Amino acid sequence: MWNFPLLPEAASTVATEIDAIWWVLVAVSIFFGAIIVVGLVYSAVRYRRGSKASRAGAMNDNLLLELSWSIIPLTIAMAIYVWSSKVFIDMHVAPPGAMEVYVVAKQWMWKIQHPEGNKEINELHVPVGKPVKLIMTSQDVIHSFSIPAFRIKQDVLPARYTTQWFEATKPGEYHLFCAEYCGTSHSGMVGRVVVMEEADYQNWLAGRRGADMMAGSGEKLFAEFGCQTCHRQDSGQRGPALDGLFGSIVTLSGGDKVAADADYLRESILNPGAKVVKGYQLLMPTYRNQLTPEQVNELVEYVKQLGGIKIGENKR
Ligand code: CUA
Repeated sequence: MWNFPLLPEAASTVATEIDAIWWVLVAVSIFFGAIIVVGLVYSAVRYRRGSKASRAGAMNDNLLLELSWSIIPLTIAMAIYVWSSKVFIDMHVAPPGAMEVYVVAKQWMWKIQHPEGNKEINELHVPVGKPVKLIMTSQDVIHSFSIPAFRIKQDVLPARYTTQWFEATKPGEYHLFCAEYCGTSHSGMVGRVVVMEEADYQNWLAGRRGADMMAGSGEKLFAEFGCQTCHRQDSGQRGPALDGLFGSIVTLSGGDKVAADADYLRESILNPGAKVVKGYQLLMPTYRNQLTPEQVNELVEYVKQLGGIKIGENKR
């Protein structure tokens, strides 16, 4: 009967809230738009040139009227602002314990890494009813990770991580788009999100698992690039030890304090001079052209594990 969808399917926890805000904005716009248009047309016809309508009794000012047309729209606008800010913050701060998935964008594909070691291209498998946090970066230009059915869209930038989370509410397949013009084949930078029941997801994870967990691959890289020469408890203190580092607060040589999160680790690997830890010299070379973004992600997972953080624990 009624089959004229104005919005895509709603399949995440925030989708209903986003849609509610959208419908309220539409309703408010139609309501005030109608008042203005009806008043305009009525006055234009009634007081057109040559009409006999009386022009007597025109008002110069009316305090009550002026206050109401200021205060009522202000109240409505502020209510919408507070409500949508709350939803905006909720959808950007992942709940503790969210499952983490790494996303690397490049012209023109999406590369996904699960901490369990599974890798995918242009596909993202996730369980239903579980918060999923995406840790995203680009290896070339700006892309934007968009799943309309989940009402999420987040720019994916080179040289830093951006994050976004969602919780799918219905098993099924959904479109994944790049929503930022990123070159010739931007329109082809699409994929699908497969939402599965938890048991199916676990089967998928087990069936498609690669050789190593991400942290395991990271550990191999750590050895291969000789990181342990300087970054072990017993390394003679040439570089800061990494045990327990992740999620802690680090004091820098300038006295500033920073949180040791994924972005900090990434920056320290690629541009070691940016934030030198207090008490240490800048001895570390840059690994900018030696590591792929996926390898940096693996090293981050490894260092996270050195901090005693297990997969799925969402400390920073
Ligand atoms: Cu990537 Cu558009």
